[in-house]
Amino acid sequence: MKKLFLLLCISVMINYMMAQELKSPNGNQVLIFSVNNVGEPVYTLTYKGKDIIKPSKLGLELFASENVKFGAEVKKEKEPKTSLYDDFKVVDVKSTSFDETWQPVWGETKDIRNHYNEMAVTLNQKSTDRNMIIRFRLFDDGLGFRYEFPQQKNLAYFVVKEELTQFAMTGDHIAYWIPGDYDTQEYDYTTSKLSEIRVINEKGRQGNLSQTGFSETGVQTSLQMKTSDGIYINLHEAALINYGCMHLNLDDKNFVFQSWITPDANGTKGYLQAPCTLPWRTVIVSDDAREILASNMTLNLNEPCKIDDTSWIKPMKYVGVWWEMITGKSEWSYTYDVPSVLIGVTDFTKVKPHGRHGATTANVKKYIDFAALHGFDGVLVEGWNIGWEDWFGHSKDFVFDFQTPYPDFDIDEIHRYAKSKGVKMIMHHETSSSVRNYEQQMDAAYQLMNKYDYPAVKSGYVGDIIPRGESHYSQWINKHYQFAVEKAAKYKIMVNAHEAVRPTGICRTWPNLIGNESARGTEYQAFGGSKPNHVTLLPFTRLIGGPMDYTPGIFEMNISKINPSNTSHCNSTLANQLALYVTMYSPLQMAADFPEHYERFMDAFQFIKDVAVDWDNSKYLEAEPGEYITVARKAKGTNNWFVGNVAGEKGYTSSITFDFLDADKTYIATIYADAKDAHYKTNPQAYTVRKVLVTNKSKLTQPSAPGGGYAISIFEMTDKAQTKGLKKL
Ligand code: NOJ
Ligand code: CA
Repeated sequence: MKKLFLLLCISVMINYMMAQELKSPNGNQVLIFSVNNVGEPVYTLTYKGKDIIKPSKLGLELFASENVKFGAEVKKEKEPKTSLYDDFKVVDVKSTSFDETWQPVWGETKDIRNHYNEMAVTLNQKSTDRNMIIRFRLFDDGLGFRYEFPQQKNLAYFVVKEELTQFAMTGDHIAYWIPGDYDTQEYDYTTSKLSEIRVINEKGRQGNLSQTGFSETGVQTSLQMKTSDGIYINLHEAALINYGCMHLNLDDKNFVFQSWITPDANGTKGYLQAPCTLPWRTVIVSDDAREILASNMTLNLNEPCKIDDTSWIKPMKYVGVWWEMITGKSEWSYTYDVPSVLIGVTDFTKVKPHGRHGATTANVKKYIDFAALHGFDGVLVEGWNIGWEDWFGHSKDFVFDFQTPYPDFDIDEIHRYAKSKGVKMIMHHETSSSVRNYEQQMDAAYQLMNKYDYPAVKSGYVGDIIPRGESHYSQWINKHYQFAVEKAAKYKIMVNAHEAVRPTGICRTWPNLIGNESARGTEYQAFGGSKPNHVTLLPFTRLIGGPMDYTPGIFEMNISKINPSNTSHCNSTLANQLALYVTMYSPLQMAADFPEHYERFMDAFQFIKDVAVDWDNSKYLEAEPGEYITVARKAKGTNNWFVGNVAGEKGYTSSITFDFLDADKTYIATIYADAKDAHYKTNPQAYTVRKVLVTNKSKLTQPSAPGGGYAISIFEMTDKAQTKGLKKL
């Protein structure tokens, strides 16, 4: 009996020393996990038999903690071991499968399938008797894994010095990257080999006021790559809650990325208390670039919705008093007469207005009228509240008053007027990164929004974070962003946070997080311009984690026509701007330009009026990072489709079939395209609009100019008379 027991034990041990294999439901992705001879956890990933991740180590390095106990038992414990990356043995392996289809509150598709095979490996560190679980989920489109710490005696409180997760690449892949930075994501992308990142990074950064790099080979996620044999690999994270945001640091001799967590002001990466889990690390893999864009892995790795009644969460199309300040036509501030503002002390009723204030009652009414006339849901107004006179550039704490409007912004009258026109107002809270000022006023500010019926807030974190020494993506500030979203949910408020940490699919759990900026948005078209291929990259990178408030719709590309001292140029054609409403998926879409610019191009503006912001279905038709993206989307609850194509610097000739349409129907398609001689730099406003009949057999070959694109609205024909004079495509 004893012998039998021993044999059983030995066979279990051998089993656990052996590699564990996990396959995705369709078998294309294969993960192998093992613990090596010094007890280090190691994993590999293959796709269709090809190596994607070479042997890569897993684990964490902790800070030594003193573990002082109080009361009768006061004593200093022996310095605990700081490594959580070696000396492990496998004590349990649990494999399960999961297949469920869920419905997002808003999204690219009505149904999302969450289908994976899972393997949870429990590791025990022999010398410390500490337990760590590594949970792997393998989907048909890639891998997610995370560290978990069950409640246990020998690991209650711990502080992360660094997470040591490796992603070993198989070669010198092409990467579409922005520099690692603790404070900003507002960069243009560089396309280069992994081996070229260091040299390009050394040449300097791209001129944003709050930039804090950490390494010459540091890059941000989501990082898109392409191998020499055409495999697309995307590295990112999911469910970033209560931890620093992950960057990647490259060992460019061996092409091994290692996680680099954003530190807090003390240099620590995470203060943790078991039981707890860390964010998921994600590797999306496909030999078809369209599948990277269609992947729902990031959302699927987040928890289901935590808001019971979501009926108040509604996608919105909006206009706003915004582009005028960004281009320099008007100002956020009210007066030049106050050298500094003290909240609650500075009396704005006694100062002389400078006359360039954008958020005046009269100007806001102009935008409300425009919104009502053209069917927009909302109007954003920036510069409505006290504090803009000295908000910027000197690390000021307690900058903004989120409850007191300037004297020329009549909040009661604007509320009355907007309501009478059926338009909702969108609140703006620029925090200037003074976090405690915002948290102290948050309840009152959200109550004010409830009182005046504002359903959504755009918040912002420009400048260095206060408390001083914190950055934009550490554990401390990430908890603030989360706090703001969860508190907003209590007030039934939707949040669109600018400059906050990049999204990681949290909008599945908190769908009132309807937008984030967290990348270089349209504002940069008035700050010198972005690369024309920027919008062919964002869906592969920034949008992997969630929607972006990109604020498209610029029709006047020559910014000096608005403000002679601003020589910026919007590097995009007008047709490209229309396509962005489809290619840059978001439940929140702005028409950012001025009413008078739209009035000059009413036939093109019709597309912005028509396009939906919520979808039953999305089909990625063509895609190559940095070159082109073509997508067709079916508007929620209708039979109408919208197609968008954007092209990079070289332009692109798109070739699509309309087989996504119903077979028994005829549709009227309006095609908004670049004119033959259009070019993002020299001739951006040259476009054509043509109407044709399409069926699911129709085909289209459509050239897009450099920095150009096309947009198509497709409405089901309901009355034969509508087809009069229209030709088949
Ligand atoms: C930066 C934001 O991205 C922009 O949209 C906003 O207008 C300014 N901050 C001022 O808050
Ligand atoms: Ca910004």
